Amino acid sequence: MEIIVKENELQAGKAAFAIFEKAIKDGAKVLGLATGSTPLTLYQNWVESDLDCSDLTSINLDEYVGLKPEDPQSYHYFMQKHLFDQKPFKKTYVPDGLASDIPAFCQEYDQLIKDNPIDVQLLGIGRNGHIAFNEPGTPFDIGTHEVKLTENTINANSRFFDNIEDVPKSAICMGTANIMASKKIVLMAFGEQKAHAIKMMVEGPITEEVPASILQKHPDVTVIVDEAAASELT
Ligand code: F6R
Repeated sequence: MEIIVKENELQAGKAAFAIFEKAIKDGAKVLGLATGSTPLTLYQNWVESDLDCSDLTSINLDEYVGLKPEDPQSYHYFMQKHLFDQKPFKKTYVPDGLASDIPAFCQEYDQLIKDNPIDVQLLGIGRNGHIAFNEPGTPFDIGTHEVKLTENTINANSRFFDNIEDVPKSAICMGTANIMASKKIVLMAFGEQKAHAIKMMVEGPITEEVPASILQKHPDVTVIVDEAAASELT
């Protein structure tokens, strides 16, 4: 794992964008993308760049169950607003939170990823060490699945909703197995509240109780953090 410590989120966003830009110039065509507050500076750099994305495919990590794509809290909406509206891609995929048969949809999403292997996967990390919505205890070998969100994650995500009751209780998530199959992974994390998760991911034992710890086994992971998120690393 390569760890890059940047002064602040803005610098980190620039560094992350440089990695994506180089990979794309070197031929990457399929990108795994994430939502949340962490990737915002990366997407800001992306939309301000002159990078042509018309030949790229993106596959997002996750989506809440029950939210329409036009719901401002949905991850579809987030991706349109922060990246795709300004930078049209050839094809973009975000899990369908309204799928009537979720297990069948999850199989289709796994097939989609098999047919379009991810060249570079972007990740954030939860305070409890989750990646995507793979919560502590999720088997490492799982594919796309529906996940009941933990109280910890519901509380953390309630900041984006008017009421905590409005936070969906489950999500569709690309499993850890799909993340690990990506050729290259870039994980970003900012702030003191992520410091313990970063320490466990980098220095702790590999355990399903810390989903991100599996990344120690991936051959090409770059972690971009600010000083606060790096503060517990030895
Ligand atoms: C988002 C995702 C989540 C977030 C994580 C951190 O697509 O998969 O795992 O990356 O919850 O969220 P933020 O960036 O809001 O701190």
